[in-house]
Formats: sequence, C-alpha cells, structure tokens
Amino acid sequence: HTPAPSTTHVGAGGETHQTAGGETPVMTTQQGVAVSDDQNTLRAGANGPALLEDFHFREKIFHFDHERIPERVVHARGYGAHGYFELTDSLADVCKADIFRNVGERTPAFVRFSTVAGNKGSADVVRDVRGFAVKLYTKQGNWDLVGNNIPVFFIQDAIKFPDFVHAAKQEPDRDFPQAQTAHDNFWDFVSLSPEATHMVCWAMSDRAIPRSFRFMEGFGVHTFRLIDDEGRSTYVKFHWKPKLGLQSVVWNEALKINGADPDFHRRDLWQSITSGNFPEWELGVQLFDDEFADSFPFDILDPTKLIPEEQVPVRRVGRLVLDRMPDNFFAETEQVAFCTQNVVPGIDFTNDPLLQGRNFSYLDTQTKRLGGPNFTHIPINAPKCPFHNFQQDGHMAMHNPKGRANYEPNSWSQPTGGPRESVDGYRSYPDAVSGQKVRQRSESFADHYSQARQFFISQTPVEQTHMRDAFVFELSKVETPAIRARMVSHLLHVDRGLAEAVATGLGLSPMPAPATAARPVVEGLEP
Ligand code: HEM
Repeated sequence: HTPAPSTTHVGAGGETHQTAGGETPVMTTQQGVAVSDDQNTLRAGANGPALLEDFHFREKIFHFDHERIPERVVHARGYGAHGYFELTDSLADVCKADIFRNVGERTPAFVRFSTVAGNKGSADVVRDVRGFAVKLYTKQGNWDLVGNNIPVFFIQDAIKFPDFVHAAKQEPDRDFPQAQTAHDNFWDFVSLSPEATHMVCWAMSDRAIPRSFRFMEGFGVHTFRLIDDEGRSTYVKFHWKPKLGLQSVVWNEALKINGADPDFHRRDLWQSITSGNFPEWELGVQLFDDEFADSFPFDILDPTKLIPEEQVPVRRVGRLVLDRMPDNFFAETEQVAFCTQNVVPGIDFTNDPLLQGRNFSYLDTQTKRLGGPNFTHIPINAPKCPFHNFQQDGHMAMHNPKGRANYEPNSWSQPTGGPRESVDGYRSYPDAVSGQKVRQRSESFADHYSQARQFFISQTPVEQTHMRDAFVFELSKVETPAIRARMVSHLLHVDRGLAEAVATGLGLSPMPAPATAARPVVEGLEP
C-alpha cells in the first residue's frame, strides 16, 4: 500500500492548505491526533465567534504563549557547538581523571561562547568579556570548565557579583545602555572597587573585541586542583589556546560590524563549522605546588591575578575540536546548563572565594531558568555515561527510580535495590582548614595594581594606544566628573603615561591624586 502523495489546495478564503501524504508526515496535536485544518479556528458560522471547544487552536496558542524562558542573568547572548576533546599528553602522573589518562582518547564536548553584559538580542562585536564554557561528557560524569576569554576577573569575592552585574548591565531607571561598559554605573562601581583595576585593563584592551570566537583564548580563571591516584594535589590553571592564533578587530571595525551584522560572531562560527572548517584549541595547563604558591608574590587563590606563563610555562595536553552545530538552538545552546560545581574524580576546588560562590550560583539560577530540578534530564545536560540515583519527582521528571526502592540503604535485591555507593566515587581533597569565622579578606589579596601594570607594559605600543583610546572613549560617556577622576586616580598606579593620556583625552584638569592604595605596586616585576 503506497500512501497518497501530498497535495495542495486553496480554501474558501484563498488560504493555502498543504495535505500530508507520501513522505510528508501528518501533523498532529501534542496528543497525537491528526489535524484536518491548521488555517482556520472552529467558529459558530464563518463570520461567527471562535468556539472554546477548539482544542487544536487552544493547544497551539497555549504552547506559543509559553515559548520564552528567562534569559541567563549574565551571558544571555551566546552561541554553542558540539565537538570533542582529544588527549595528546597524558597527565596520569598528576591526575586520576579518566579524561587525562589515555593519549588519543576522545571525549565528547559542547562549548558555548557568550558575551557577558548584553541581553539575548544584543550585538556580537561589543566591548565585553567573552564566556568560554566547555562541557566535557567524560566516562566518569560531566566536567564543566566554565571560563572566560580573559584570565582574571573583576571581583575577588562572590558576594560582590550581584553588585558588579547590576552596575554593568542597564541602569534600572532608564533600562539602557545595553551591552555597553560606557556608562556611569559601571565606572562608578569599578572605580570604587580597586580590585577591578587589573580586569578593567584587560577589558579596555583588544582582547575585549575579538575578531571571532575562533580567534579567542579561554581560561578557567581560578586555581583548581588535580588529584592523583594516591590522593596528592597539584594546583592547576587551565588555558585554551586557539589554533588560529589570537586576533581582534579595532574599535572602528567593531562599530561598523555591529551596525551591519549584529550576528557577526554567530555567523562566523556557523559558516566555518558547516563548511568543514573546524575551529580548534589546545588545552594547556600550568601546574604548580605549594612551594611555588608560597613563593609567588600574589595569592594563587585571588581570581584577579594570573600566574605569568614565563614563571610557569603552559603545558599543552590536548585538543578541542568543534565539528558540529546543534540541530536546534533552543534545545541545546539555550538549555545547556554549565556549572563550576560539575567536576569528576581527579579535579577539585580551592578556597578561591569567587569559585566557591559560583559553585552555589549556577545550580540555583538554572533551577529557575530551566523550570525546576530536573534540567539534568534534558539531553544536552545529561551525562553520556550511565547514571543512577534516587532523586525523584519535581517538574518534568524523566528518570524517576524504577521499582520499589527510592532510598538506600535498603534490603531489596537487584534489580529492585537500585544503585549503591562506589569505592571509586568522588572524594573531596582533605584540605586541612581552621580559623575563626570572620568577614574579612586576606591581606594577601591587597595588591590591586602590580599585575595591571605588568599587563599594560606587556602590550605593544599599538595595543597600548588602543587601550588609551578605549579608556577615553568609554569614560567620556560617563556624565559624572568625579567618577572619571576616580578612575584616573587608579590608572596613576598602573602607568603614569596611561593615566596622563586618559586625563588629557577627557579634558581632566588638574590631575587627580593617586588612589589610596591598600598595597603599593611591587616595583621591578617585569612582564
Ligand atoms: C554564566 C563565566 C563569575 C554567576 C556564566 C557563563 C560563563 C561564566 C562562561 C555562561 C555559561 C553559559 O554559556 O551558559 C564566569 C567566570 C567567572 C564568573 C569565568 C569568574 C571567574 C561568576 C560569579 C557568579 C556567576 C562570581 C555568581 C556568584 C553566573 C550565573 C550565570 C553565569 C548566575 C548564568 C548561568 C545560567 O543561567 O545558566 N558565567 N562567571 N559567575 N555566571 Fe558566571
């Protein structure tokens, strides 16, 4: 029996009806009932009122009405792709994670690149930090490395994150500017937070206007731990090094590109991957021990500091290749949920106070954004290794426990008894802790300028000019003179020439006094 071919006919009002048949599937309601007419509501007479009885109409409109979910509170605009991570140099000597043991082994990956401040519909080539979030579906569970394209961050303690983000996004009375650091609230906050100075310098550099996602570095930012078979810990900083090298646009190009094509970075990734031009990054690690940490003039737990690559070279251990676009943007890129807390045996946290706050924040926000506690059941978030637990119920439960047991220990034999603990399960590194409960930042976090200065000095003259121009452009949009002056007072600790050029560009006179520094710059630290 061959089904009748699909046909097209015109309805009484001139509307087009396309009928299923042959290869063309039948349209159904969500309950699976075939639809006879998708062009006209059910009415009491052709000119009469619509009938409540029309379940097809009501279901279709109801579903449409509920299409939107909250956008991410930060990093709302992003673009993702599938690929794999391949190990090229075993780390088995320092890390027991399966992903780092066997050279040549491939681990499926999903990566989402993003801007931070702009809303979901904002432009791609704005001056902003870029998110570089990697989900690795390892054999031991999902490991998320939720990084950025800049190796340091604006704040040292997660309790300041809501303030920082409020100040960076639209001002609440006027709801603008979108996706711009050029406004009073942003500069007010960062100039009142000297710890932001280093990251602000990166944000005013060419790093913040990348040519495309394919030409960006990525950084895990925090110091993490690798744990070996014997339970020993090695500190680690993670890096992604783009095979194509690092490239940025200049500000004039950025402005034109945003006007001509706000989707510039999305289109670039789509076109390169769909044409077989797969972007690639090397994974690099900086490994160091307590002895190095103690000798380092900055605190390795301070996320506003990096470890200079001259001091601890980056060891390249693998490659990340992106070779497939999602089938559906919403299902995958929008619903993907990265979380710093998703680690596997062999990878552990440190006491970086920003990292510890992040470990709470992501799961919390995703429970709201993705409608309840079961978003790990969405295919893009589910592990690709076997997973079993007794978590049950809640909205959209797809993997409730099978059989009688939904607790343990229990007396039931298998298969009813369900999953049990494992001797190879995740064990936290038994870091010794002691201390009084205080709300106090470590003094070792107090030098806010030395690395900012190192960063500025390490730029080429052309790059330094771009930074000066960026400071002048962005600060010239700030209406409050005191905020401009306060920012220049920090730049005086970074580089006098930079501060003077910015002050001149802003028409600032007299020159403000240098900000009261908690710690003076460590002289003689050459990049
Ligand atoms: C989202 C990176 C600090 C809270 C993201 C994303 C990235 C990222 C890449 C986008 C993930 C995606 O593509 O879906 C970073 C980095 C940080 C940092 C590198 C500092 C080193 C923080 C802190 C907090 C925070 C301190 C809160 C205490 C969030 C939240 C989201 C987010 C709530 C939205 C997550 C979602 O809705 O799925 N972050 N972030 N981040 N970040 Fe961070």
